[in-house]
Amino acid sequence: MAGQLSKHFRGSSRTSNVYGSRFASQHMPAQFFPEEEMPKEVAYRMIKDDLILDGHPMLKYSTLEEAEKLIAESSNKNVVDQEEYPKSVDTEHRCINILANLFHAPTGNNENMAIGTACIGSSEAIMLAVLAMKKRWQNARKAAEQDTSCPNLIMSSGVQVCWEKAARYFEIEEKLVPCTSTRYVIDPVQAVELVDENTIGICAILGTTYTGQYEDVKGINDLLVQRGLDTPIHVDAASGGFVAPFVNPSLEWDFTLSNVVSINVSGHKYGLVYPGIGWALWRSSSYLPDDLIFNIDYLGSDQLNFTLNFSKSASHIIAQYYQMIRLGKRGYTAIMTNLTDTADYLSSQLSALGFIIMSEGGGHGLPVVAFRLGPEQGILFDEFAVSAKLRERGWIVPAYKMAADAGMSMMRAVVREEFSRSRCESLVCDIRWALKALVEREVLNVQRYQA
Ligand SMILES: Cc1ncc(COP(=O)(O)O)c(C=O)c1O
Repeated sequence: MAGQLSKHFRGSSRTSNVYGSRFASQHMPAQFFPEEEMPKEVAYRMIKDDLILDGHPMLKYSTLEEAEKLIAESSNKNVVDQEEYPKSVDTEHRCINILANLFHAPTGNNENMAIGTACIGSSEAIMLAVLAMKKRWQNARKAAEQDTSCPNLIMSSGVQVCWEKAARYFEIEEKLVPCTSTRYVIDPVQAVELVDENTIGICAILGTTYTGQYEDVKGINDLLVQRGLDTPIHVDAASGGFVAPFVNPSLEWDFTLSNVVSINVSGHKYGLVYPGIGWALWRSSSYLPDDLIFNIDYLGSDQLNFTLNFSKSASHIIAQYYQMIRLGKRGYTAIMTNLTDTADYLSSQLSALGFIIMSEGGGHGLPVVAFRLGPEQGILFDEFAVSAKLRERGWIVPAYKMAADAGMSMMRAVVREEFSRSRCESLVCDIRWALKALVEREVLNVQRYQA
């Protein structure tokens, strides 16, 4: 009887108990489209529980309900369709204008001359900017009947992987300015010395992925101007674009500099939006060659399109606009200043624990603390061991290798909105605990070895 009963229940797909249903005793579909339906509450619960082992994102819109309502209400709108969703498209244009003004885009007749587009993230924005620089260079060379077969792009060896992708996908030679064991950013002099007739542009990063430091965009620009070179600069402001204007407004890095032709920024980093949004901006339409812009008319009206991706939900654009008007400059300044102060505090605490700090504080870099073990600690264990130990307490502080030519391991703590001073204190406590535990383990290992 018991056997019959359990068979009966296990065979059942309709049950109020998800884990009593037959679906719980089967693998979740991973290869083939299932033949039959699954009850909605079972599908929901199975997927939700399967995702439990993911990390837990802490970013929540501070004014949660409103932002999330707007996202939910607009996630089914495809922003590429200007005919059907003109107001969403208008919202995208408003965001672009706001960013263009924030980044001091030149104006003509009181109007921004800058143009731009929403993207899936900074990577897509960078691909577009690289294509635009390549096309402009090609067009100029073709007009002068010169060879166009060997374009190159100058960047530091510490660029994010999307730059290497762009170079490889679009067949552009990477001219790398090496990082060293004491300099983790581009050297402006070396960068400008690499410029030749085949250079399509120079990348400068406002907040490197490794250490969060700002590269010296003005230094590069000034050298180019001094030497009478009109080489374009693209600023990769993936993170810094939403930090520097608020924390360090006098820093010169954006369209105020004459050779800066394009800028990217991610909405889903310090723009305070959930993943899936980035922005590409060009100083003016003359830096985005016409042959990259497509005019599509099959959605009911003439529309200009210059993205790699076509369809995209309007929700992240709307969330970005929401954050911009909800927080305003004052809100972003308050948040970014707090994060910068917290990062500075964390740096001072880690330095006191013997770590070498590789990032720059005081608003001269992102609210990121990059650090590595001091020489004495480094004898016993490495940064990967510290990172793994911290995982036991739930912290994800990754360890990784700095750009190859700098030849060192390091760790990085990205200070985000939800990382308050008291969470910072807990992290410092847990790092102290991790170091102590690792030292004790090593001492024990040595004793065992000697015995
Ligand atoms: C400097 C820099 N550029 C570009 C990217 C790519 O950004 P996204 O993830 O928005 O594509 C990152 C991501 O970490 C980055 O740090």
